[in-house]
Amino acid sequence: MTDRPLHHHPRRLLVTGGAGFIGANFVRYRLATYPDSRIVVLDALTYAGSLASLEPVKAQPGFRFVHGDIIDQPLVEQLLRDESIDTIVHFAAESHVDRSIHAPDAFVQTNVLGTLSLLNAARSVWLERGMAGCRFHHVSTDEVYGSLDPADPPFTESTAYAPNSPYSASKAASDHLVRAYHHTYGLDTTTSNCSNNYGPYQFPEKLIPLMVLNMLQGKPLPVYGDGLNVRDWLYAEDHCRGIDLILHYGRSGETYNIGGHCEKTNLEVVQALCTAMDELLPQSPHRPHHRLITRVKDRPGHDRRYAIDARKIAGELGYTPAESFSGGLQKTIRWYLDNPDWWQPLIENGYQDWITRQYG
Ligand code: NAD
Ligand code: TYD
Repeated sequence: MTDRPLHHHPRRLLVTGGAGFIGANFVRYRLATYPDSRIVVLDALTYAGSLASLEPVKAQPGFRFVHGDIIDQPLVEQLLRDESIDTIVHFAAESHVDRSIHAPDAFVQTNVLGTLSLLNAARSVWLERGMAGCRFHHVSTDEVYGSLDPADPPFTESTAYAPNSPYSASKAASDHLVRAYHHTYGLDTTTSNCSNNYGPYQFPEKLIPLMVLNMLQGKPLPVYGDGLNVRDWLYAEDHCRGIDLILHYGRSGETYNIGGHCEKTNLEVVQALCTAMDELLPQSPHRPHHRLITRVKDRPGHDRRYAIDARKIAGELGYTPAESFSGGLQKTIRWYLDNPDWWQPLIENGYQDWITRQYG
């Protein structure tokens, strides 16, 4: 993988939020890459969690699912002891900016207090073992750095934190707690701040799957504001590979930015999706899909641009994303076309009604 020094050897993992989008991608990636490793998933199964995302791995001998909340410190301590966990990979979070604008409390509860609880459990159990051979990896976002203007250089690991939404503020708080537990208690921690992920199994409130499912149903494609906000898109499996490299080779106490080298305006993303859907679905009555694009009111406090300078992880760990944007979009769209059983129940549960109420 890399000739860099090995800093940690993950053998027995607790993956929080492993029934969510990136967490489930990570669990599948880990079990495919290291079939002998132990993975215990702890997930509260909120609206965003789905056991169906773990269906492909549920019969693997190293896999165990535990239904529970990260804020339940006694439960986490028991899992760390009973399973001799040496690595926590912390994905569990409330993750959607729009929801954080309308109901911020849950974001503080899970992202801040839940992370604190998890850190306390790790500190308590791993301290008994002298902390040796144990690592806490925290999965965070580039949104903690705030918003860039078009001419600004991309975010580096030393860019000052300037979170603008309740979501990014709660993630920033959790990043600071992780940093503090490293400096104060000597916990071996690493943090990754990554850009916008896309790929199979993403809950369809996020831009890419929302657009794909709306196109399939002939529904409007709601583009916020002028559609010129920029995000850097990262295929989820590439993100998982980056996290796995950090787990092994990342230096304790360090943070690493992970980006996709793929800055696009939202309109560019939606246009690319429309074109791909036109090609994949020549019989669709909704072609050409771009006619469904609808400008809606803007998200309050909408960050203009995120962009990642990923030279640290490239230089130290030899990491670069492998998937192209067009290849990743094709795989993603194909997956949604081939897996209506995964997303149909979500539509029936009415998640889209919530979005339409906010921005319709
Ligand atoms: P997601 O919303 O798809 O999944 C979150 C998972 O966490 C769900 O399975 C949910 O049930 C679980 N969860 C929520 N609260 C919990 C609690 N209190 N206890 C236990 N489990 C709980 O999120 P995602 O998109 O997979 O994001 C995973 C992580 O990556 C998050 O920390 C997020 O901040 C970060 N991140 C995401 C992106 C992105 O583009 N999706 C980008 C950068 C960083
Ligand atoms: P999103 O997927 O919610 O991720 P984030 O807000 O964390 O970047 O949104 C990505 C971009 O797409 C963001 O600029 C908001 C915009 N967007 C729309 O224009 N329409 C939509 O329906 C959604 C969900 C997002």
